[in-house]
Amino acid sequence: MTMTRQSRTILISGASSGIGRATSELMLQNGHRVIGIGRDFSKCDFNSDRFNAVEMDLGDIKALPDQLTALAKQHPEVDAIINCAGQGRFGSLEEFSYKQIYKLMDLNFTSHAFVCRAFIPQLKKLKHSNIIFIGSEAALEGTQKGSIYCASKFALRGFAQALRQECSGSGLHISIINPGMVKTEFFDQLNFAPGVDSTNFIEAADVANTINMILDSRPGTVIDEINLSPLKKVVKFNNT
Ligand SMILES: NC(=O)c1ccc[n+]([C@@H]2O[C@H](COP(=O)([O-])OP(=O)(O)OC[C@H]3O[C@@H](n4cnc5c(N)ncnc54)[C@H](OP(=O)(O)O)[C@@H]3O)[C@@H](O)[C@H]2O)c1
Repeated sequence: MTMTRQSRTILISGASSGIGRATSELMLQNGHRVIGIGRDFSKCDFNSDRFNAVEMDLGDIKALPDQLTALAKQHPEVDAIINCAGQGRFGSLEEFSYKQIYKLMDLNFTSHAFVCRAFIPQLKKLKHSNIIFIGSEAALEGTQKGSIYCASKFALRGFAQALRQECSGSGLHISIINPGMVKTEFFDQLNFAPGVDSTNFIEAADVANTINMILDSRPGTVIDEINLSPLKKVVKFNNT
């Protein structure tokens, strides 16, 4: 049985593209308010006065504590967070500079820990609140050329599982979704992408619908983790 609540205020990082954007659109369609974090919202127009764009570089880890503390103070009404911002960087370890290693860990893991650190004190006080992480199939198994990306997603998943235990005495529900390949702008900078057949990829809207199901589920249960994958895994390399 699902429960549709009146209006929620949902903080969504990575709201300017892909999964975060599709989720923002669905949440607005469902009558919720969305506070979206991204670096550049010029590429999208949500056409809603219930959408509030916050331009913030989540990779600028030193600036984040002050920025996020201020954001949490400014928005005590936030009752759900979707931690979606992230980037894919793939290659053998020696192809990464030392700086690229910590930059990817900062964005894909540490920034989400910081967002949670800023908002959890107020989320825990609510009767029902949610934090949903977008992990990855890369959080489930280490793969070739994925050492740092997998490490960042394994870290996120471990963090989500530990927080789930930590918050179980409150009304804060912690969940993680681990998608396989989702057809988004994520692949624009990469030399591979899912195959073109509709069975080769997940759509951003599929992930948004899964998020919606988690948010609408009965408060007495927690959906800890969901894995999503395309019916058929087909990877196309740009040079093939
Ligand atoms: N696509 C896939 O196959 C797939 C599969 C599994 C998991 N995921 C995960 O899903 C999440 C969303 O990916 P996506 O497929 O939706 O990719 P996407 O279309 O490239 O979207 C990435 C989002 O993250 C934001 N972002 C990136 N760097 C940022 C920064 N430094 N500061 C603030 N925001 C930043 C981007 O906004 P700006 O560019 O405006 O900053 C954008 O809104 C990521 O965590 C990714 O690892 C994706």
